[in-house]
Amino acid sequence: MTRRSVIRGTGHYLPERIVENSWFEGQLETTDEWIRSRTGIERRHFAAEGQTTSDLAIRAGRAALERAGMTVADLDGIVLATSTPDLTFPAVATIVQAGLGMTRGFAYDVQAVCAGFIFALVNADAMIRAGQADRILVIGAETFSRIMDWTDRGTCVLFGDGAGAVILEAQEGAGTSDDRGILASDLNSDGSYRELLYVDGGVSSTGTAGQLRMQGNLVFRHAVEKLAKTAHCSLDKAGLTGADVDWLVPHQANMRIITATAQKMGLPMEKVVLTVADHGNTSAASIPLALSVADGQGRFKPGQLLVTEGIGGGLSWGSAVLRW
Ligand code: UT7
Repeated sequence: MTRRSVIRGTGHYLPERIVENSWFEGQLETTDEWIRSRTGIERRHFAAEGQTTSDLAIRAGRAALERAGMTVADLDGIVLATSTPDLTFPAVATIVQAGLGMTRGFAYDVQAVCAGFIFALVNADAMIRAGQADRILVIGAETFSRIMDWTDRGTCVLFGDGAGAVILEAQEGAGTSDDRGILASDLNSDGSYRELLYVDGGVSSTGTAGQLRMQGNLVFRHAVEKLAKTAHCSLDKAGLTGADVDWLVPHQANMRIITATAQKMGLPMEKVVLTVADHGNTSAASIPLALSVADGQGRFKPGQLLVTEGIGGGLSWGSAVLRW
């Protein structure tokens, strides 16, 4: 028998304010047509003034608990991925823990930017398989609107705010690729690419939060090359191939990156979960948001094989293969 981490519930929250591409036409030299055709993004949600990453995460966590039919008493811990924390410390996860009324178990943050949810998921899976916990709430939550340079048309049109969550639960499997739960994963970082995507401020450097800087076309090239590679690596580890995949749930940064990755994996677009048009790039929140939206629509059937992948600042990138 093998201990596996099975997704028991998903949930998400998006701030009320929706901003269409056309809103940027009044602020910058850009067009709805450019944004749509170069990225696939049509609109995004922005947090209200005073609304923090933890506010979004608490709502997403509650939604996941509700869908799973669980309460915080059932959880052993919270692992939360974000690059836009409420405060330098404590961890957003502990603020969420308190907000959910949970006073036991562990709660900490993981920071791997747009790959953050994959890193958090793999981290939680490792803890479950090691017997450290039976049920973990894994959240990706961001307020990237707080670190935008609103004069930079190459970045500020791309990002949005939101939060998504999943609950992982330990279940016994046979140790084969037919098991439910996370079957394999692959994580990578290469800090020599720091200049491609970073925030130009921080606690121990400028003492400010800073703003996002990106060489988009270079990140684009790395994404197209590295995402299909990591997905294949995870599939390989699980003893599976692209032909076994029912759903690709990619990081939602750019429709053209997603299409290229699906093509390289030999997957038709009907097998790809797409939320980029409505959410924009929500960094660590994008994958759990996509999982929760598709789950809410009843698209994933028990036994189906999902591959999820993401890349972001660091650069850091990775993937996971799981059976629903
Ligand atoms: O989630 C973390 C990972 N991040 C990503 O995966 C993002 C990866 N990168 C991308 O998605 C794309 O590179 C972008 C959408 C950011 C840009 O698309 P691109 O096809 O790589 O365009 P580019 O950066 O090469 O720029 C092409 C042109 C430039 O004009 P010139 O130099 O050719 O005259 C830009 O100045 O498009 C211009 N441009 C814009 N024009 C209108 C850049 N942003 C805009 C804009 N509106 N918003």
